[in-house]
Amino acid sequence: MKVANALVAGILAELREVVKPGVTTADLDALAESRVRAAQAEPAFKGYHGYPATICASVNEEVVHGIPSRRELVEGDILAIDLGVVLDGYYGDAAVTLPVGRVSEQAAALLRVTEESLHKAIAKVRVGARISDLGAAVQAHVEAHGFSVVREFVGHGIGQKLHEEPQIPNYGPAGRGPRLAEGMVLAIEPMVNLGKAPVRVLSDGWTAVTKDGQLSAHFEHTVAVTADGPLVMTAPGGAVVAGPDGYWPSLQPARM
Ligand code: MF3
Ligand code: CO
Repeated sequence: MKVANALVAGILAELREVVKPGVTTADLDALAESRVRAAQAEPAFKGYHGYPATICASVNEEVVHGIPSRRELVEGDILAIDLGVVLDGYYGDAAVTLPVGRVSEQAAALLRVTEESLHKAIAKVRVGARISDLGAAVQAHVEAHGFSVVREFVGHGIGQKLHEEPQIPNYGPAGRGPRLAEGMVLAIEPMVNLGKAPVRVLSDGWTAVTKDGQLSAHFEHTVAVTADGPLVMTAPGGAVVAGPDGYWPSLQPARM
């Protein structure tokens, strides 16, 4: 899983450098697919319940599962890129939301708070913690900033399948659900809306958008529960154990 997830992190890092006005989300998808296949891996999403692409590319009010297209990114957009791969039978999954050129202060705050909320959840990952401790930490941080947590989609266990038990909601009271045990691997993925929480799915059957049309952001890491703490397998540069604040030395808070 470390190898599969490091591949995901590396490809996302490369895509991050390519994102700029004029690039299409189909261009990003083609680059991602070629990098996945060059590593002898396969895209995890392509063909999953009929999903047609390697990445999900969700722009602005699109929450998750945006389908790559000939749409050109423009300055001020925010773009969520979600990438999953399977390598030697093991899955990797991560997502980031990126600014395209300069974005509004509101958009930048949404990206910052959403990424911070992921690290708040990572900080809760330890042997003996409860699954709902993660979502409670996400919700508290997001709502303290006046944003809202998406209810319709959740994080998930991951391993020899893309989606394994348990489900990991990004909201709700702490202290519920299964206890985390050594060796569990979790894909933690808060989705946060600038306005109200409700979402709907477009007629393409995939693209989830905010009902109020306001911006949405999504960050995801695949994290293993270890005796040493949360092992973030999709960290840029390879797997690393996060500290009690959910960050690690090469990644400082407020780096945006
Ligand atoms: N990271 C998302 C998830 O874990 C992306 C899934 S896209 C799909 O659900 F096409 F595979 F559904
Ligand atoms: Co996922």
